[in-house]
Amino acid sequence: MKTIRRINELQELIDRNKRKNQTVGFVPTMGFLHAGHLSLVEQARKENDIVVMSIFVNPAQFGPGEDFEAYPRDEEHDAKLASEAGVDVLFMPNRDEMYPQNGGIQILPGAQAASLCGATRPGHFDGVLKVVLKLFNIVDPDHSYFGMKDAQQLAIIETFVRDFNLRTKIRRVPTIREEDGLAKSSRNVNLSKEERLVAPVIQKALKNGELLFHQGVPVKEIEREVANQITNNSSGLIDYVSLLAYPSLLPYTPKDKEAIIACAVKFEKTRLIDNIIMSTKG
Ligand code: PAF
Repeated sequence: MKTIRRINELQELIDRNKRKNQTVGFVPTMGFLHAGHLSLVEQARKENDIVVMSIFVNPAQFGPGEDFEAYPRDEEHDAKLASEAGVDVLFMPNRDEMYPQNGGIQILPGAQAASLCGATRPGHFDGVLKVVLKLFNIVDPDHSYFGMKDAQQLAIIETFVRDFNLRTKIRRVPTIREEDGLAKSSRNVNLSKEERLVAPVIQKALKNGELLFHQGVPVKEIEREVANQITNNSSGLIDYVSLLAYPSLLPYTPKDKEAIIACAVKFEKTRLIDNIIMSTKG
């Protein structure tokens, strides 16, 4: 595996591979890799000649008072895991390399960013789109791999790619979970022992929400039930529990083919998100 920190060096390598007609699979990450990231690599490995992973904790997608500083980092361990998983090129730029200047141009997501994390983390998806566009331009990937745990991010990026004719094809990869159901996340290390023990209630409550949804229980009632189950069984504070149409993220109507039940829960040092995508008879 080759580790590259400079944009022009990576672009030269990609150009050389493209001239040999090799396809490029891209796995963008913020590092502190876990089995969820590695499953993105596994899928990318199957579908491309070369696999590029980026590790960059993107300051543009963190708001004031959020966990940019506390976001876990371990470059050495990440490089080992990436190499073992079959990554060919690891791109690890620093902040100056990615953001040497700021001309003030902004990329603003549409209505899909008005709910869920977009509502409680203003500006978050502006920052995600900014870095994702830069990374797509740098890596020029044939296929790009995103996890379903960040279902809102995925939906917004799919719209971005479609509306702006970006050439990469987005691949959705299912959420990977711990044995007790907790979604794998780099942020899980910031849970205390007690919080880690109770955190699986998040998925249990969402599954219960899914059951109620299929029983035809009204949306607001489901959201209330799920929120109550989480707060009654953990120290987590509810940021949101929402049931919406997917991927539009508009209010759900029985005509929609897919719905999402998603939540964000704040613990003392970290905030966890999870969701279930539910297909409907539509
Ligand atoms: O999902 C993430 O880890 C980040 O939001 C991404 C896509 C790498 C952009 O910084």
